[in-house]
Amino acid sequence: MPESLSMKLIRVVLLSSVVCLTACGQANEAQHLEQATQKWKSQNSKWTTADIRILAQGETLYRKNCSACHKRDGSGELSIGAPPLRKNPLLHQAGNDTIKRVLHSRPGSTMPAFASALSADEVAAIISYCANEWGNQLGYLIEPEQVEKLR
Ligand code: HEC
Repeated sequence: MPESLSMKLIRVVLLSSVVCLTACGQANEAQHLEQATQKWKSQNSKWTTADIRILAQGETLYRKNCSACHKRDGSGELSIGAPPLRKNPLLHQAGNDTIKRVLHSRPGSTMPAFASALSADEVAAIISYCANEWGNQLGYLIEPEQVEKLR
């Protein structure tokens, strides 16, 4: 039986929306990376494109996993005891203590432990982001290997 006109139309509409979704997704990603490049390069010209991808990924993951308590701008939420992460001495140095805190939280804390929810790459990206944002200027990135060792 020949395909009806309406079936053809539906197919065309479906196909073009799939093409648009893919193309628009790529355009968004390219735009996101361009904005991230401007932002991070103006802060520190030595960041490479690979570094900027990690910092941008860290920002996205931070907004998803941490900003509900620590706020998007890192100012914290004192009513629930979440300290500011902006200009935070712990993050300014971002050593093993910071990594352990994010992986395992600590007894009695309302902060969740992220060891099983996030990969070492993701935790490294989030801490790298926090440690170089809002007046924290670590100046380098946290390596996933360092996170993996503390898991
Ligand atoms: C449900 C709320 C909540 C979420 C979500 C949360 N935190 Fe926390 N965070 C807290 C609270 C409360 C504290 C203070 C108590 C403590 O030290 O555990 C804290 C403490 C910290 C500290 C120590 C700061 C200091 O100066 O002692 C760091 C670093 C931190 N959080 C990072 C993160 C990161 C990164 C994420 C996301 C991966 C995150 N937090 C998600 C509530 C939260």
